[in-house]
Amino acid sequence: MKVIEVPDYTELSKRAAEIINDRVQSARAFNLGLATGATMLGVYRHLIKDFLENGTSYRHVYTFNLDEYVGLGREHPNSYHYYMNKNLFHHLDIPEDHIYIPDGTAENLEEECLEYESNIQRMGGIDLQLLGIGRNGHIGFNEPGTSFQSRTHVVELDKSTRMANARYFKDLSDVPTHAITMGIATIMECKQIVLLASGVEKAEVLDSLIHGEIDESIPASVLKRHADVTIIADSEALKVTKEREGFILYDQ
Ligand code: PGA
Repeated sequence: MKVIEVPDYTELSKRAAEIINDRVQSARAFNLGLATGATMLGVYRHLIKDFLENGTSYRHVYTFNLDEYVGLGREHPNSYHYYMNKNLFHHLDIPEDHIYIPDGTAENLEEECLEYESNIQRMGGIDLQLLGIGRNGHIGFNEPGTSFQSRTHVVELDKSTRMANARYFKDLSDVPTHAITMGIATIMECKQIVLLASGVEKAEVLDSLIHGEIDESIPASVLKRHADVTIIADSEALKVTKEREGFILYDQ
């Protein structure tokens, strides 16, 4: 794992967008794995700015999102499909049929998961996957205890995850209890992974990821087994790690 420290969220967003831009510009076809959450908003703003200013086209790009709430359709303002349209897709030239997001309103959720997984395989796998990290170490909606062998599946959300996301809903009781998420094995098959962490509330979990054991209790820890992971973290998110004696930053 390569760890890049940046001073703040603005720089974090810029660095991540640069990595994506480079890959999108140099590829003839590109499968991009995307994430939602507050951390990603700055990256998406940079990608839109670059599209407007430099005309970087997404016509050859296919996207696969990590997860979606069960029960929320694409028109629901709290669905991840809505978030992606609003914060990214509607501002780019990506064709609508290049966008893959699990359908949380599918009648048969198990079938939807299998289909999602087979769409990723059929398209040749994900070239670059953007990841956030939950305070409990989740990646996608793979909560602590999820098997490292898991593929796209339905999960019951942790109370802590529902509480963290309640700020987007009227009330905690409105936060869906279940979601569809790419599995950990699915994520591990992505060719390149870029994980972003910003803010002091991620400092403990980021330190466990960097220094802790590989264990299913911290889903993100599996990333240590991946050959091409870059963590971009701001100084606040690295606060606990940097307080450790002998901490070596792998890359600046
Ligand atoms: P956040 O979410 O960017 O809103 O902190 C990250 C996550 O839960 O994966």
